[in-house]
Amino acid sequence: MADNNCDCWTFLKRGVCNSSSSTTHSANTIPRTSLVYDAATETRCPNASNRELFPPNEARLSSDNLDPPTSTKTKSPRQLLQFTFQELKSATGNFRPDSILGEGGFGYVFKGWIEENGTAPAKPGSGIIVAVKSLKLDGLQGHREWVVEVAFLGQLHHPNLVKLIGYCIEEDHRLLVYEFMTRGSLENHLFRRTIPLPWSNRIKITLGAAKGLAFLHGGPEPVIYRDFKTSNILLDSEYNAKLSDFGLAKAGPQGDKTHVSTRVVGTYGYAAPEYVMTGHLTSKSDVYSFGVVLLEILTGRRSMDKKRPSGEQNLVTWARPYLADKRKLYQLVDPRLELNYSLKGVLKVSQLAYSCLHRDPKARPTMDEVVKVLSQLQDLNDLAILSHHSRLSQEGRRKKKPEGSKSTKDSPLNIGKHRKDEIKLQLCK
Ligand SMILES: Nc1ncnc2c1ncn2[C@@H]1O[C@H](COP(=O)(O)OP(=O)(O)OP(=O)(O)O)[C@@H](O)[C@H]1O
Ligand SMILES: [Mg+2]
Repeated sequence: MADNNCDCWTFLKRGVCNSSSSTTHSANTIPRTSLVYDAATETRCPNASNRELFPPNEARLSSDNLDPPTSTKTKSPRQLLQFTFQELKSATGNFRPDSILGEGGFGYVFKGWIEENGTAPAKPGSGIIVAVKSLKLDGLQGHREWVVEVAFLGQLHHPNLVKLIGYCIEEDHRLLVYEFMTRGSLENHLFRRTIPLPWSNRIKITLGAAKGLAFLHGGPEPVIYRDFKTSNILLDSEYNAKLSDFGLAKAGPQGDKTHVSTRVVGTYGYAAPEYVMTGHLTSKSDVYSFGVVLLEILTGRRSMDKKRPSGEQNLVTWARPYLADKRKLYQLVDPRLELNYSLKGVLKVSQLAYSCLHRDPKARPTMDEVVKVLSQLQDLNDLAILSHHSRLSQEGRRKKKPEGSKSTKDSPLNIGKHRKDEIKLQLCK
């Protein structure tokens, strides 16, 4: 069980823990009022997860951000449902292996069914489908992320953030219940599936994810997401993107502070270099990670891929010279798309990725600016394949000219000329 010295427990004792200690099995709801205050207050706990870029004792950091936000971005307070462990066990068919949707650092994610209004389990195929994430309780880091996730996602509502329906905290069990995202993660679509994700869907997804980040960064009390990556972008049936996993989210700098000093956590290949070096976190760290995801979407390559030749394993390092050169740019495009992409779209996405990945965080665009650019790339129909076809037919026409003159004789445009020739011949006779 978790160590009571961790500050996360302040929140748990006052909030979730108290309510969970009652063994009631009815649909419990608790108002989320001051959760962000406690949970977003980052503390240093042992047993860091695999997302810790440096072990705690090596982390290059100054003091952690202990200045909590005084209020939240809540537009309308939502009541989170409190599930019992037994309810979620039944909802997932006893956590059946064949209902596993995926596995992350936190633990397994299961598909389950619950009644529409409340926490009661439903028969598969009835009620509503949910995704149930079950924390492997192997240390405080996971527990702390669970707390932060409940705190942030319980308060933040936006069409591009995954909806947290409720949670379960009972003895050693920590679970989270989300809306079910039919098409799973962007990671699956980009890297695991055999059918390539069409260009128009890629643009739709990047725009949705950008709007989610812009929402977090906007407003008087910005939230820094800190774990922007393809596996945390979930897709509904229409490829609307929603950000999930707020376990590493952090309240942004307050007042005239420029950054938050914190432990370096995140995922290799996505974290901004200045954040990794100094522990100084700003919303521009998220913009950098967004640039990495843009590159993954453009190239179909993973941000880190140990299976590639040494010079190509780090996507940003490999792609940077191509991004800087307009003539080389199109060599970056995911070969699985063949020529089914917009020429202008690729140009703009590359330019955007280049600026998001700028080494100087101040030179990176804001997410609002990113949204503006991406909004203009919807529904472009200047497909590379069309320009390729028209170039081919132009070349064909040029090559065929001597022979072509034969066939053009039959063209209605040349009838006049035929007639003139015939007339000349007749005159000669
Ligand atoms: N709400 C959901 N609806 C549908 N599938 C989901 C949902 N949440 C998660 N998944 C699936 O479960 C997988 C694991 O998710 P999880 O967030 O636990 O780990 P991850 O993002 O892959 O890794 P990490 O722990 O580093 O964030 C996702 O990749 C996705 O396929
Ligand atoms: Mg995730």
